[in-house]
Amino acid sequence: MNRILVWDWPVRIGHWLLVGAFALAWLTGDSETWRLVHVWAGGGVVGVVLFRLLWGLVGTRHARFASFVRGPGAVKAYLLGLFTHPRAETPGHNPAGGWAIVALLSLGLLTGVSGWLTYQEIGGEWLEEAHEALASTMLTVVFVHVIGVLIGSLAHGENLVRAMFTGIKRGDADAAIVNARPFAVPLLLACAVTCAWWLAR
Ligand code: HEM
Repeated sequence: MNRILVWDWPVRIGHWLLVGAFALAWLTGDSETWRLVHVWAGGGVVGVVLFRLLWGLVGTRHARFASFVRGPGAVKAYLLGLFTHPRAETPGHNPAGGWAIVALLSLGLLTGVSGWLTYQEIGGEWLEEAHEALASTMLTVVFVHVIGVLIGSLAHGENLVRAMFTGIKRGDADAAIVNARPFAVPLLLACAVTCAWWLAR
């Protein structure tokens, strides 16, 4: 099989930005001193997620939701065949990973919005508690996601973490993307910074 480009620049930069912003927001969540950093980081999460939702409609082939959000049957078949059909890896996200991604994007958005409402002192204590519960749920899903990535890497004999840096995986030549769309990265960064600034006002 060939080495082909599957992840465009916005997917890769967006992924690691999301990791950094969520980690920073988590680490500063309990501190009054770091409150503004927490709000900026949370706003950054929302900005990256909003961009990713748009990119899921207009981005390159494997970035599109239509290419990786599959029904329960496909997820079950993938999980059951994980170690018996190790070559059956999809060039983009696999069906199980697709749902982890949907969960992470939804939780990122809900956690950010509930945090912003709490910051604006709208909603009261129950919303603050909901914000904390959503953040903890997101952390749990992150653990599941990382374990899934490691299992997928072992099962398919492919370093998926490295692929999220380089964009390159094994696959048929006709599954490759042609353009890595670097021009969209400034839009992603602008979206993250604008959202962070707007939510922290
Ligand atoms: C805050 C923590 C994290 C969040 C919110 C997160 C979220 C996501 C999202 C949304 C995607 C889909 C990428 C896209 O299509 O745009 C993804 C994919 C991926 N993530 Fe993460 N991630 C996190 C942590 C990590 C960490 C720590 C690693 C590495 C150990 C990792 C490795 C990967 C890999 C390899 C993929 C691609 C999986 C595949 O090949 O289908 N993620 N992640």
